[in-house]
Amino acid sequence: MELCTFKKAWPLTVDCCPCDVHFIQYLEERNLVGKSIFHFGTGEHHLVGKNNYERGNPNEVLALTACREEHDIYIDYIVRNPLAANYYKVLFGDIHTLSPRLLPAFDLVTLFHLCETWDEQVAEYARLDGAEIVSLFLSKLNPGGRIFFFPQSHGYSGDNTDAGDIVRNFLSNNEMAVEEEYESLLICRTPF
Ligand SMILES: C[S@@+](CC[C@H](N)C(=O)[O-])C[C@H]1O[C@@H](n2cnc3c(N)ncnc32)[C@H](O)[C@@H]1O
Repeated sequence: MELCTFKKAWPLTVDCCPCDVHFIQYLEERNLVGKSIFHFGTGEHHLVGKNNYERGNPNEVLALTACREEHDIYIDYIVRNPLAANYYKVLFGDIHTLSPRLLPAFDLVTLFHLCETWDEQVAEYARLDGAEIVSLFLSKLNPGGRIFFFPQSHGYSGDNTDAGDIVRNFLSNNEMAVEEEYESLLICRTPF
């Protein structure tokens, strides 16, 4: 058994994967400051963390990658830019192994790549499946918090455990509500 990881780092490809670009645009347009952000999927570009630093660190970001190369790029980045390290942290791991007890509360959570890597091998070791990941982060949302999904993700279409079905189930069971659609992103909140 082996942890699911990405051998190749993901470059910024706005045509097919504009989620990070739209997310930083949203943060800037809404002038959001002082927010704690969980960001699922850094890419090798680390756009969310780097943009935050370049804008004077208005928010704090905890991000996750399952790619060793992307994590190495993060390490090089903060070694050269230690001021950025105060506001941008990147964990290496599979999101399906996150522990509720080890996570703080967040104001904004991106789950852009939900279900992209779920398969039988991951199911063998995973602590959480896709629906449990959504539940976990809903339970970790601060009042007024938001969860961001990316319906163009390939995890959004597939078998019955895909992200689209999971999101629709949470919405129809009134466990989550749609706040708005913003560019390519679907923004949800708790229903109360
Ligand atoms: C397709 S890339 C997109 C990166 C970036 N969000 C963008 O839009 O350019 C997917 C990212 O999510 C991360 N990722 C995908 N599945 C993951 C998982 N199960 N656990 C942790 N990270 C994962 C990958 O390591 C990678 O950083």
